[in-house]
Amino acid sequence: MWKLLLFTILAINHCNAVLEADANTLVLLDNLAIRETHSIFFKSLQDRGFKLTYKLADDSGLLLSRYGEYLYKNLIIFAPSVEEFGGDISVERLAQFVDDGGNVLVAGSERSGDALREFASECGFELDEDNAAVIDHLHYDVSDAGMHTSILTSAKNLIKAESVVGKHNRQADAAPLLYRGTGIIADKENPLVLQVLTAENSAYSYNPETSVKDYPHAVGRNTLLIAALQARNNARVVFSGSLQFFADETFTMAVQYAQSGVFHKVAGNRAVAESIGQWVFGESGRLRVSAVHHNKVGERDPPEQAYTITDPVVYTIAIEELVQGEWQPFKADDIQLEFVRIDPFVRTFLKQTAGGSYEARFKIPDVYGVYQFKVDYDRVGFTHLYNTTQVSVRPLEHTQYERFIPSAFPYYTSAFSMMIGVFVFSFVFLHFKEEATGKSAGKDDKKTQ
Ligand SMILES: *[C@@H]1O[C@H](CO)[C@@H](O)[C@H](O)[C@H]1NC(C)=O
Repeated sequence: MWKLLLFTILAINHCNAVLEADANTLVLLDNLAIRETHSIFFKSLQDRGFKLTYKLADDSGLLLSRYGEYLYKNLIIFAPSVEEFGGDISVERLAQFVDDGGNVLVAGSERSGDALREFASECGFELDEDNAAVIDHLHYDVSDAGMHTSILTSAKNLIKAESVVGKHNRQADAAPLLYRGTGIIADKENPLVLQVLTAENSAYSYNPETSVKDYPHAVGRNTLLIAALQARNNARVVFSGSLQFFADETFTMAVQYAQSGVFHKVAGNRAVAESIGQWVFGESGRLRVSAVHHNKVGERDPPEQAYTITDPVVYTIAIEELVQGEWQPFKADDIQLEFVRIDPFVRTFLKQTAGGSYEARFKIPDVYGVYQFKVDYDRVGFTHLYNTTQVSVRPLEHTQYERFIPSAFPYYTSAFSMMIGVFVFSFVFLHFKEEATGKSAGKDDKKTQ
């Protein structure tokens, strides 16, 4: 009996995919009914160990931090219509929260309030105008009421990154995603923004009630449905233009393309929403460097002061990935090491050793100076790893040279030939001078005579 209980407790503990320190989550809602209409999504978070605190977005008692410590690591804003947050929370405060490493998941709608718009632009996105919805006259669901705003977008339009959207959700036979909301526009040049989900080619974002007079802000694949930002400090923000995307109703609904009649028993939303939830709150795609070591081949410790030019060197770095709440060795074959002195002198792939850490062996270049071992690993959907270790490289000491180097023989030859030359010259010069003075002395004698 006790064993069984213990086993259950262990099993439950094991299910907790989230680290204890990352569990506290504040959920801001337009109204408490959203807690019921989106219960499957919230429950999936709770099942993985998140502690959710539900509050109204305009609650005057909202508190993000106390005595300089954040009370929450994650924030969910399922409050499309909020114009201004209550209590301690404001758009600047949210931007600060992200700067301090907090993760945020936001869902808007066709009628997003100013608060969300401002926060979106802080993150590098733009929500389309008020009342604008994504419209697709070719790919809409049979349930659509005639506006063609309940669109279906193929799972192929998800970003190519398993850590963000899950392993199986992008497959060719995966169910399409049902979406009803506004379009998001993002700067394509922004390297920190990820286009998690785009609409089909035939979609655009416009007010469905009016006729299209000017060019829509978002057309075709430029219409983002879900956008993400991984900030430079690796904090994550996901912005969905649709709150409906995460609703229980959408999760359990059967979908059918109205045009082609292709039918799926259930929309793909649930699996995708859960994967995105795992990514944004740091359960997946999270890497860290746990140890770095370097030494000369055959030695155990790094040199006390400096390496010498042309030393053979071993560099080891242990990289770990968070899997199911545990740090495990990360597997990849595209991690590079650079040995940099302003420019990289050596750039090589790191090889995984049996112990799980990565290793590179190379010969230090024949140029002395201050170098860095640099690993800069930046892949879509993963933490940006950047680790540098500075070392000095000195030239050979004078005792480390050979006494006679073959390549110096021209110099030896020139030195000795110079000595011989001087000797011969001085001999000739002295001899000549003696005769010359003798002759001139004779002349003078004659003149004086
Ligand atoms: C590199 O990783 C090591 C081991 O985790 C750490 O001690 C060091 O501070 C890191 N260096 C930088 C520049 O982040």
